[in-house]
Amino acid sequence: MPKIIGLTYDLKEDWKFQPGDPKDANAELDTVKTIDSIASAIETGGHQVKRIGNVYNLLNQIDHLGVDIVFNIAEGHWGRNRESQVPVILEMKQIPFVGSDGLALGITLDKIIGKKCFIADGIPTPRYFEVREGDDLKKLNAIGFPLIVKPRFEGSSKGLSKNSRVIDYPGLQQQADLINRQYKQGALVEEFIKGTEFTVGVIGNKHPFAMPVVQVKIEGKLNLGDDFYTFSRLLQPDLVEYICPADIPEGLSNKLKDLAVRAYRSVECSDFGRVDFRVDEKGNPFVLEINPLPCLSREDVFFFAAKALGITYEDMINRILDFGLERHGLSDEKVKNCKVADVV
Ligand SMILES: Nc1ncnc2c1ncn2[C@@H]1O[C@H](COP(=O)(O)OP(=O)(O)OP(=O)(O)O)[C@@H](O)[C@H]1O
Ligand SMILES: [Mg+2]
Repeated sequence: MPKIIGLTYDLKEDWKFQPGDPKDANAELDTVKTIDSIASAIETGGHQVKRIGNVYNLLNQIDHLGVDIVFNIAEGHWGRNRESQVPVILEMKQIPFVGSDGLALGITLDKIIGKKCFIADGIPTPRYFEVREGDDLKKLNAIGFPLIVKPRFEGSSKGLSKNSRVIDYPGLQQQADLINRQYKQGALVEEFIKGTEFTVGVIGNKHPFAMPVVQVKIEGKLNLGDDFYTFSRLLQPDLVEYICPADIPEGLSNKLKDLAVRAYRSVECSDFGRVDFRVDEKGNPFVLEINPLPCLSREDVFFFAAKALGITYEDMINRILDFGLERHGLSDEKVKNCKVADVV
């Protein structure tokens, strides 16, 4: 039976820049093109799509939504619970939705809370400390240098520039101040992992499935060493390439996939997610973070892995939808028969 699928999302163009906003303030939000791609993929699966939009639109329509399930990719605008707002409202109204719940989205958007889960579950993640305004850096830094300074609860490489890797106290102070003042949050300071970078997509629920490992190549280099992904690199897609499947020993690939599934389970993701890694020069992997709302644009890294499995964009979107439908007991044979079901 075709279903009516609501779509919740935040558009880049809905962000009204205020004086003092960092230039990357709307970086996590989606483009109309991405929403069009998701909607047409869902329609290809035989369903009808109802575009709801952001949390305010959802609130206005909440008592007459008229959908069977909501496919949620809304990033939200404010605070560390911003990604949790749409799922929590849907949960409150007992409206089924695709994707992780408010708790998983909150835990993972705040990278420090996410890391605490990883540490409790024995999943390797870089050592860290947090810097808030007025903190004494020398008392906090038991790691040494080099370090990387990031915002505690932002994504899409927001707040990351080439200055984010710091090698001394003046550099650390400057970057921590920038995060504290411009992004109005604690600075997450991690040991800098010199080496290579990978990302692994995970889909499913009872038996989460890790997709083929994607390696990140920056400015033609696979061995990144001291290089890393910054916001300005994100704006110049030509500088970054994705290799999938990554040309790495099977042992490392299996280790990364295993850790990706463990991280997904650790924070209790649902339906889909993506785990980012650095691997040091000795071959030790470290989970940097998990994204339960990875970008679902056709060009994004999540679909590189799908392509390597021979799965089309349309089939992958419908498989994610199907995981949500199954979880809520709403699945039917027509959906189950989509091609990707043979693979995962
Ligand atoms: N501890 C680290 N050591 C080395 N490089 C790091 C470290 N932490 C982050 N980076 C670099 O910074 C990039 C962004 O970091 P991270 O994945 O933690 O944040 P994000 O902004 O949420 O990411 P995304 O762009 O995937 O949303 C990483 O892809 C990596 O290149
Ligand atoms: Mg990341």
